[in-house]
Amino acid sequence: MVALDGPSGTGKSTVARKLAAELGATYLDTGAMYRAVTLGVLRAGAAPDDAAGVERIASAAKLEMGTDPLAPTVFLDGADVAVEIRGPEVTGAVSAVSAVGAVRELLVEQQRGLIREALSAPGGIVVEGRDIGTVVAPDAGLKVFLTASSHARAQRRTAQDTAEGRVSDLERTHADVRRRDALDSGRRTSPLRRADDALELDTTELDVAAVVGRLLELVENRGLLAGMERTSR
Ligand code: DC
Repeated sequence: MVALDGPSGTGKSTVARKLAAELGATYLDTGAMYRAVTLGVLRAGAAPDDAAGVERIASAAKLEMGTDPLAPTVFLDGADVAVEIRGPEVTGAVSAVSAVGAVRELLVEQQRGLIREALSAPGGIVVEGRDIGTVVAPDAGLKVFLTASSHARAQRRTAQDTAEGRVSDLERTHADVRRRDALDSGRRTSPLRRADDALELDTTELDVAAVVGRLLELVENRGLLAGMERTSR
């Protein structure tokens, strides 16, 4: 198993999916799980910082995660929510919802179940998030913490928003990146931090192919390929 952590805009999702596809592994986007619960909270009209209300909604929500790296899916209560969870409303509220301890406990439990299931089949799994190496799977065979300057991360997010048809403004995005960094790193439960035994990889000057190449080398060096077959290259 590979644990990929780091703040948003480091290219984590793109890199994690490509790495999983190369390895013939499955892929789990834990951020999508926090986003789906946040969507449930907003739909229910609850305040994202109302811990009791958020916990109630999170416990009742039925999440189903599709772990094919070429076509990952997110279902909330039987409906595909992949597009909605990337919208500005969810993005604005997800830090508050993911700071609720009970939500984290619930989702960490589900994530561990999905990882166990994946590890019982050949191929392994690449899991991305903020606390995978520190909390969800401290025993992961390889832990990498991706970083990049906040400016580079804002630029990438703006480019992604534009490519996906959303209106985006670099200055506002940069401010939002910094706001979310502060919230994610400053929260009491599972703050974003590099695990002591995680390797740090700064992607500011690297393109996706270079990052994936570096990660493949690390997987190989760790001798993890036995359980994670390379499918191409
Ligand atoms: O990776 P992302 O931007 O989709 O994550 C959405 C939010 O969820 C982000 O504010 C941090 C939070 N998150 C978290 O707290 N723990 C995780 N394992 C993954 C995401």
